Amino acid sequence: MSAAGRKKRITAPQLQARKGGEPIVSLTAYSAPMASFLDPHVDVFIVGDSVGMVLYGMESTLGVTLDMMIAHGAAVVRGTERACVTVDMPFGSYQESPSQAFRNAARILSESGCDAVKLEGGAEMAETIAFLVQRGIPVMGHVGLTPQSVNRLGGYRARGRNRDEAVRIVSDARAVADAGAFSIVVEGVVESLARDATTAVPVPTIGIGASSECDGQVLVAEDMLGLFSDFTPSFVKRYASLGDAVGKAAEAYAADVRSRRFPGKDHVFADRPARNRKDS
Ligand code: KIV
Repeated sequence: MSAAGRKKRITAPQLQARKGGEPIVSLTAYSAPMASFLDPHVDVFIVGDSVGMVLYGMESTLGVTLDMMIAHGAAVVRGTERACVTVDMPFGSYQESPSQAFRNAARILSESGCDAVKLEGGAEMAETIAFLVQRGIPVMGHVGLTPQSVNRLGGYRARGRNRDEAVRIVSDARAVADAGAFSIVVEGVVESLARDATTAVPVPTIGIGASSECDGQVLVAEDMLGLFSDFTPSFVKRYASLGDAVGKAAEAYAADVRSRRFPGKDHVFADRPARNRKDS
């Protein structure tokens, strides 16, 4: 396809301009085929470091590496043409210094072809976010429950239930927006705090477990499709039970193999290739 004929992706500035307007639809994606199914319906993919837990069975996101994020980001870019693709910076790839963050964000952008990066943290990350944005890298922030800090937070429970923490999370959101983030994921907070954070910043907030007070919503695709474990967090709405469908399909396949019903005549190469059949 020529450059002129290529479809344009939704950009970070276009998402930023949707503050207070049409809600932003976001889902996570980690692979090309899944992302291609979701692409027509989604404004921004987050290639989350939740990939470690969802696809690799890790206990937390802390073991996810930069190379994993680049590989999954590139797969999602290859599988899509419409939505903005934002890739998570994994734990340890940006916290040390703004220059470390720039070096690794530049790798993510250039090697995966994605449109933006996301990093966790509030005021303490403002200098780093400004450093990246001033050098041409669109950054999505992430405040509230920040899973990369699970060891400090002591778990994954909702944040901001006491006043001091709520005030700090709103000021974190402000600091991240002031630093130049084009949008901010607000995760695992009570409704009043989601409202306060959303009204406090001039960029869209994208909530996960943060009520409808945000400017957009994101879910882990496998959670909303019923593809990830038996446990569904209370803030997730399940739109399908694909895990059950996969189990049923595997059961039918196993029964066919055991009874020699599969492969049947339709699934066997013919002795003499039929004319014009490429796969014979
Ligand atoms: O890693 C992840 O899945 C996330 C979501 C909150 C979008 O960061």
